[in-house]
Amino acid sequence: MTKVITYGTYDLLHQGHINLLRRAKELGDYLIVGVTSDSFDRGRGKLNVRNNVLERVEAVKATGYADEVIIEDYLGQKIDDIQRYDVDIFAIGSDWEGKFDYLNEYCKVVYLPRTEGISSSMLRQQEEGVFRIGIVGSGRIAKRFVPEAEVVSSVKVSAVFDPNEQNAKDFAKQFGIKAFTDNLDTFLAEVDAVYVASPHLTHYQYTKQALHAGKHVLCEIPFVLSSSQAKELYDYAEAHNLVLLEASKTAYCPAFCRITTLVKSGVIGDVVDVKTSLSKIVSPPTRELDKSQAGGAMNEHAALTLMAIIKILGTNYCGVDFHSKMKDGVDIYTKVNLNYPHATSSATLGIGVKTEGNMVISGTMGYVYVPAPWWLTSFFEIRYEEQSKNKKFFYSYDGDGLRYEIQEFMSMIVNRRKSSYKLRRDESVAIAGIIEKFNNKINWNALASR
Ligand code: CTP
Repeated sequence: MTKVITYGTYDLLHQGHINLLRRAKELGDYLIVGVTSDSFDRGRGKLNVRNNVLERVEAVKATGYADEVIIEDYLGQKIDDIQRYDVDIFAIGSDWEGKFDYLNEYCKVVYLPRTEGISSSMLRQQEEGVFRIGIVGSGRIAKRFVPEAEVVSSVKVSAVFDPNEQNAKDFAKQFGIKAFTDNLDTFLAEVDAVYVASPHLTHYQYTKQALHAGKHVLCEIPFVLSSSQAKELYDYAEAHNLVLLEASKTAYCPAFCRITTLVKSGVIGDVVDVKTSLSKIVSPPTRELDKSQAGGAMNEHAALTLMAIIKILGTNYCGVDFHSKMKDGVDIYTKVNLNYPHATSSATLGIGVKTEGNMVISGTMGYVYVPAPWWLTSFFEIRYEEQSKNKKFFYSYDGDGLRYEIQEFMSMIVNRRKSSYKLRRDESVAIAGIIEKFNNKINWNALASR
């Protein structure tokens, strides 16, 4: 018996896939088809797959060509599968010509002719059309957004708004964006969705105006600085079938999502403490040190660190207090203690104090250690008393990591999902509420100067 194996994502199964499977089957007597798992696809940068793995497996089975369907879940698995299933021929489309020659060591490699003029990417694009995103603001984070948006299919950054027209113009020139303006109404008329990347204090107003113009909004952190503002904006978005998402980038990246699901499924027992930290030393003159622009470590860094705590321990905290080192009216360092009936947590944040930027989640059976910089999560380790049980996890964190939030934002729009389980509305509102308490100096204490 000649055994053939082939692999693919098989998203939105099309005639090209069917032809390939038929040709592969004709090479032997028994065809094994490896369908990529959702996490494997995300890990290798395929962020826009529309059908989930179960749907894709069913579609492959329905062609009638596969004698067996397996899931491809890790790099290097092909070598294992070929040996495990005693495969004679590895077949793949000619778009991969040469890429799998290394498998010749294990079996015969055949590149089959690819069907011209059709692909899953093409179908996804046709279905979704091109979605025009406009950027509000032209600063550091906005500059990172454009290259990241380019790797998410069906998205085009088509306009930039800045109250300073020259800034908008320079930004548009640098990134080859057609439209730039200092007029918000003109800008909103030209886009389908808005990414708000302006200074903190302007987030509420720009988000509100964009929503009122019927646009979906992805808003940078800190989203807004009060829970009532957050609630109001989410209520409006929900009532008008618009997507509103807080751009807390770590919340959407593969490794961080994996940490939360592992911890929730009890791998370290009951969680008793979460410690996070984030710091960057900034030098004047800069917005972060400017009191009038909501500067300070808390406004700058709390959103990401509180997101991590709240994703793990929830929104029902029973007490919060803040301890800050102040300089020229802003906190250059703040320690937030967030206590729960069942657990404690803390975040140490600095813009003029350097801290070790790691995260430790402690439980009754073990702890999760995420080394600095934990917010660009690509690696973590689960550690136990018995060290031989420790387990290391590696994930990709591609580019500047904004692609994951853009992909989630787009997926919500395309699939008409108003809420993301990766960062829920009530979690986002709770974060805004804690930042608000800090700014209102509730349970707040200034450390003495020496
Ligand atoms: N394939 C083919 N002809 C096409 C498209 C795909 O023969 N027109 C083959 C690929 O070479 C591969 C298999 O089908 O052997 C599964 O490919 P997959 O990557 O799932 O499909 P694509 O349509 O190429 O997907 P994408 O556009 O997302 O890359």
